Amino acid sequence: MMNAIVATQPQGDEDIFAALAAQPADALLGLIALYRNDQRSGKIDLGVGVFRADDGSTPVMRSVKAAEKLLLQEQTSKSYLGPEGDAIYADLLAEIVLGGEQAQSDRITGVQTTGGTGALRLGAELLKRVRPNATVWISTPTWPNHGPIFIEAGVAVRSYRFYDVASATVDFEAMMEDLEHVAAGDIILLHGCCHNPTGATLSTQQWRIIANLCEERGLLPFIDLAYQGLGDGLDEDAAATRQLFAALPSAILAYSCDKNFGLYRERVGALWVQAPSPASAAIVRSNILSLARGLWSMPPDHGAAIVRVILETPDLRADWMIELAEMRSRINALRTALAAAHPDLAFIGDQRGMFAMLPLAPDAVVAMRREKGIYMAGNGRINIAGLTLPTIPAFVAGLAPHL
Ligand SMILES: Cc1ncc(COP(=O)(O)O)c(C=O)c1O
Repeated sequence: MMNAIVATQPQGDEDIFAALAAQPADALLGLIALYRNDQRSGKIDLGVGVFRADDGSTPVMRSVKAAEKLLLQEQTSKSYLGPEGDAIYADLLAEIVLGGEQAQSDRITGVQTTGGTGALRLGAELLKRVRPNATVWISTPTWPNHGPIFIEAGVAVRSYRFYDVASATVDFEAMMEDLEHVAAGDIILLHGCCHNPTGATLSTQQWRIIANLCEERGLLPFIDLAYQGLGDGLDEDAAATRQLFAALPSAILAYSCDKNFGLYRERVGALWVQAPSPASAAIVRSNILSLARGLWSMPPDHGAAIVRVILETPDLRADWMIELAEMRSRINALRTALAAAHPDLAFIGDQRGMFAMLPLAPDAVVAMRREKGIYMAGNGRINIAGLTLPTIPAFVAGLAPHL
């Protein structure tokens, strides 16, 4: 899963770093450079996972700009906030994520983090503290950073089967078969909505079965919710998370605002942990705070302050919801158009979120890039938002010979 960090043969005493093995550059970031240097006018970028508008831009949202203006006028201090970050941000966001009732639970504790990645890492560090010998089970496939985040924190990682390429759906039977063998006390990492990279969705009934399994077998769900509002709607996309939190004594949730508020580089996220009792939640919180102190001391403020201002200002909140609905509609309209454009792409219409995985061999991915200027991740993952209704015919024409 990861390259060796230490070379087997240290090169000598004079270079203290000689024992390090060179690490490969991030493949998707490499794709950005290739795309940038491609001079062809009809090139299509479906690689990097950011939302794109019809003109190919990843704009700053109106509500974000307006909140930034307010902050500029009204912020009176940049003094430290503390390891929990902006507490009002976390409280307001909890209502959006967990719903009114669960957000009030004194068994749930939440803090601001440095993006969804920071939330995953902070959760991993907590697991290392409470369950040093447990294993985190991740789906095959999953977001490529999941494995490294847990491994770097010293938490063992194994995979469960999730996606059936032939039917382009969740292979729920295989998933359950693998999870049946997970040891009590282990952790299952689940994408709350909009699975990255497949877009495949679990039904409410299937989520119920997962909740039952966690309860019966004493497994801890660790939910990664990075695309709330970009699938079916804010409440719809949080339904599985709320269902698991309601059904189980303990659960962990890593959250990202970087997609649904378009704040990517500002690194805005949150970690929530549900414990069996308020007293336990208070102890969990003290541990989260001490771990955050050791990781980044305090999370960066600006992005979370923007989200707070949006959520506490009724006009901005309403406008953000409109903008989010527009983003969602754009993605889902592209899904519908892709599904109608070729019989082998019909599955894309049933999936949700920004991504789909095309059944392509690695050499077909390279051929599409070289011959047609169509860029996608090496595993055939496409960012649907990189398309437009006018570019779909060229994309499907380039793809069809490889299907
Ligand atoms: C499934 C998933 N989880 C977490 C993240 C991390 O998001 P952030 O940029 O907020 O760290 C991403 C980002 O691509 C993601 O796709």
